[in-house]
Amino acid sequence: MIQKKFNEVDRRIFYFPAVRPCETVSPATLLGSLIVLSQNIGNYQSKFLATQRRNSREAIRKIGILLVFFEEIHDRGLILPETAVLCFSELHLTFQKIRFLLEDCSREGARLWILMKSEMVVTQFRVLIRTVATALDILPLNSMDICGEVMELVELVAKQARKARIEIDPNDERAMRRVLSVLDLFEKGIEPEFQVLKWVLDYLEIKTWSDCNKEIKFLEEQWVESEEREVPFLSSLLGFMCYCRVRIFDTLDYQNADQTDVRCNMEVLSCLNPEDFRCPISLELMIDPVTVSTGQTYDRSSIQKWLKAGHTICPKTGEKLTNTELVPNTNLRKLIHQFCADNGVSLAKTGKKTRDIARTILPGSPAAAEAMKFLSRIVARNLVFGTCEQKNKTAYEIRLLAKANIFNRSCLIEAGTIPPLLNLLYSFNKSIQENAIAALLKLSKHANGKKIVVENGGLRSVVAVLKRGISLEAKQTAAATIFYLSSVKGYRRLIGEIDETIPALVDLIKEGTPCGKKNGVVALFGLALYHGNRQRVIDAGTIPLLLHIIASSNKDELIVDSLALLATLAECLDGTLAILQASSFPLITRILQSTTSQAGKEHCVSIFLSCCTNGGDEAVAVLAKDTSVMSSLYSVTTDGTAQASKKARSLIKMLHKFHETSSSGQGCQAFTNEQSVHVW
Ligand SMILES: *[C@@H]1O[C@H](CO)[C@@H](O)[C@H](O)[C@H]1NC(C)=O
Ligand SMILES: *[C@@H]1O[C@H](CO)[C@@H](O)[C@H](O)[C@H]1NC(C)=O
Ligand SMILES: *[C@@H]1O[C@H](CO)[C@@H](O)[C@H](O)[C@H]1NC(C)=O
Repeated sequence: MIQKKFNEVDRRIFYFPAVRPCETVSPATLLGSLIVLSQNIGNYQSKFLATQRRNSREAIRKIGILLVFFEEIHDRGLILPETAVLCFSELHLTFQKIRFLLEDCSREGARLWILMKSEMVVTQFRVLIRTVATALDILPLNSMDICGEVMELVELVAKQARKARIEIDPNDERAMRRVLSVLDLFEKGIEPEFQVLKWVLDYLEIKTWSDCNKEIKFLEEQWVESEEREVPFLSSLLGFMCYCRVRIFDTLDYQNADQTDVRCNMEVLSCLNPEDFRCPISLELMIDPVTVSTGQTYDRSSIQKWLKAGHTICPKTGEKLTNTELVPNTNLRKLIHQFCADNGVSLAKTGKKTRDIARTILPGSPAAAEAMKFLSRIVARNLVFGTCEQKNKTAYEIRLLAKANIFNRSCLIEAGTIPPLLNLLYSFNKSIQENAIAALLKLSKHANGKKIVVENGGLRSVVAVLKRGISLEAKQTAAATIFYLSSVKGYRRLIGEIDETIPALVDLIKEGTPCGKKNGVVALFGLALYHGNRQRVIDAGTIPLLLHIIASSNKDELIVDSLALLATLAECLDGTLAILQASSFPLITRILQSTTSQAGKEHCVSIFLSCCTNGGDEAVAVLAKDTSVMSSLYSVTTDGTAQASKKARSLIKMLHKFHETSSSGQGCQAFTNEQSVHVW
């Protein structure tokens, strides 16, 4: 195969991974491939191009003529002289690049970027067409026995390719200047005129909200991957497009397709402690967490260094690694990235994919900042004065804008979007309610956002959605919002004091989807950090529910989160009693022995320790019955986190003490004999 297939979706724009045909390829194969390639390029005739129309058309035309020439050689089975093979090989390489360039020019979502890169694109066209000319120069046309007419055509193409004036189309140039003038206005803090924006979008044939959104998505991808020096300009263009999306398009013509990108956020709530985000080797936040065969997770670069140094054991457990496979821990990665984005922490700049995090605190450029401020005002106005449809669209717009960007969030909050969003929670319209609560969820991640929600009586409104939301989705989003709000100490009490909150969360855990259950559990965990709420959480019947989830769920994260909540509740006496009453020690022991999650193990140990501390000898006696507990506890003392290991040691001491006193009494022989070898 001469033509290697490249996945068009993966190829970066303006990157041309063309492959030179290998020297041993037969002339016939080379010719055949060149014909296919030329036909392929011909297909771009019918593709839509917003810019570079003339240059593309000319390139396609020239190659179309050469195709006639290739086909003549092929049809008549002419023998190719050696220099002709050389020329064709060069043409093949160049045509591949031309095809990539045409692909880029017609790429979905890339219209604005291609326009703004006109100069570079034109240079590419120029270089490639000149290369075609040079290749044709060495073609020994006279010794090739082709008909005179075709020969003339080829000579004409060669001449044109040599001399062609390849320049920026004047219309493209005008459009580009307009965009630059708008960016300039933004930078000066002047709001651009509707007509100018509309003209630019019309020129690029960006006709709908979703066309516009495609441009934004494309620019965001570029932004993540681009070189440092391009970031400000890309940010400005993003600001421009986001502003256009909000201002120009009133109708949301978007079909479900994107639900994943607004919804995935819901999946990553967790009771995990940010300390678990650190690599056990480097102690830094993990950029690319990977799990090794022992089930331990490390940052990829640290563990790679470790393996490279010739080690074959797991650095934390000392166990031999059965293989060197590093499995990406994508859930943890998501959590870490979200944690960083939410808290404005920047990860070290080693991975190229980290820019989305590192860059979220500050606007990417002054023009982007002003664009965001202007659009926030439009958004705030629409939430109050818009039609029903506009309100729905605007709330959705806020979800997108506030998704991962701290600067955006603060602009939207400052523009006063929170009070009208809170009003929309009482809407009887399912979409509006869902979009409003989801927008509030995003804004609640911001410290100031939480404050404004609470100051405007928003806690009750959010709880109302939790309890009586029109859809399950709205309810589970409300639960997630409560989790974020409860990260502020003082609000935990306020939220708990609203009578309906905790029972409604328990209902959600009962009826929800896996995602809804998780949000419910995590929100209760957040509330239970305030001691005054624990009794309420227990009274609502949470403990049997959690035990049921732990016993029956197949979702590891949900189990770990449930254990986290259970461990918190076990700290108070009623919690201990409920756990003992349910005879749940065998279940917890089983999880302690089977879970691969360090956090999960730690929670199990915490639960035992709290129960034994609160429940006294009676509880210890129950635990001591199962002889396998002791060895599990020992392994936690060596493998577990520092915290877990400490707790396990306390438990072991308690158990030993219990055995000493009871063996002097009635005794529990089997146990002491078997385990005494381990005693220090
Ligand atoms: C707001 O944040 C999004 C996502 O991070 C970003 O793509 C967008 O450009 C930002 N909006 C503006 C106007 O800068
Ligand atoms: C919700 O609002 C949208 C936008 O105004 C409207 O098209 C839709 O019919 C409404 N749905 C209901 C159930 O009222
Ligand atoms: C309301 O917003 C949702 C997006 O969450 C969208 O799918 C729906 O079409 C919108 N409804 C109207 C009438 O605009």
